Amino acid sequence: MKFIHITDPHLTKPGQILWGTDPCDRLSRCLDDIARLHGDAAFCVISGDLTEMGETAAYDGLRQRLQDFPIRTFLMLGNHDERTAFQSVFPEEPSCADGFVQQVHKTDQGIFIFLDTKKEGRTSAGELCEKRQQWLTEQLAEAGDAPVFLFMHHPPFDVGVSHMDPIKLDDPEAFVEAIGAGANIRHIFFGHVHRAGYFNWRGIPCTSLPGTNHQVSMSPESVGTTYSSEPPMYGIVSLHGEQINILFDACLDRSPIPGK
Ligand SMILES: [Fe+2]
Repeated sequence: MKFIHITDPHLTKPGQILWGTDPCDRLSRCLDDIARLHGDAAFCVISGDLTEMGETAAYDGLRQRLQDFPIRTFLMLGNHDERTAFQSVFPEEPSCADGFVQQVHKTDQGIFIFLDTKKEGRTSAGELCEKRQQWLTEQLAEAGDAPVFLFMHHPPFDVGVSHMDPIKLDDPEAFVEAIGAGANIRHIFFGHVHRAGYFNWRGIPCTSLPGTNHQVSMSPESVGTTYSSEPPMYGIVSLHGEQINILFDACLDRSPIPGK
């Protein structure tokens, strides 16, 4: 099975520029590339910060763009999103019983759990409140020893970027308790840090990705003054029994070989 991980498109109202580039155009080019090269993927997942400001018009643009995208796409929320606006534009998207945008996708190669770590209020940090923790624990218990792949916007640990670490998932110890029922969590995929990264946290492999529009600089003195123009990437994930391969592709950089 192959699937595609995309994150942090930060969509604006169509045509609006963000940090020097057009987020809608960038995501669109990314989706074009995926459709061209990975039409056989089982699904795509966009792991949060779908929009920059949570505007209905931005979600409308996403809905419109996905209409002719040929691969099933799971949508998640990040700190820049607005749950109510998202649910008004995507009313058919499943939510868990408590109204959070959390869902499970069961396949014969594993169980994929998509979490909602959006924390209400003026904060960029993430949260998995008691209700969401309880839901996660129930899903993991139900999964038994089947392979489980977790997706969440906020990492539950410090990634080593000093200005991002304070806005990770709040209360990581509660999260650890919630996943205690997970017998076979194979991988955690997250966004938020706008940077390609590999981590091994408590024995669980984890990866992060650059966003499709802009990246976050590694240097703390740049916060609020500069951004990083590194290229966007998406992740191509393939499952081969016990083996997981993840390749990152900087999809906007398709230059011909000079002289050819
Ligand atoms: Fe983001």
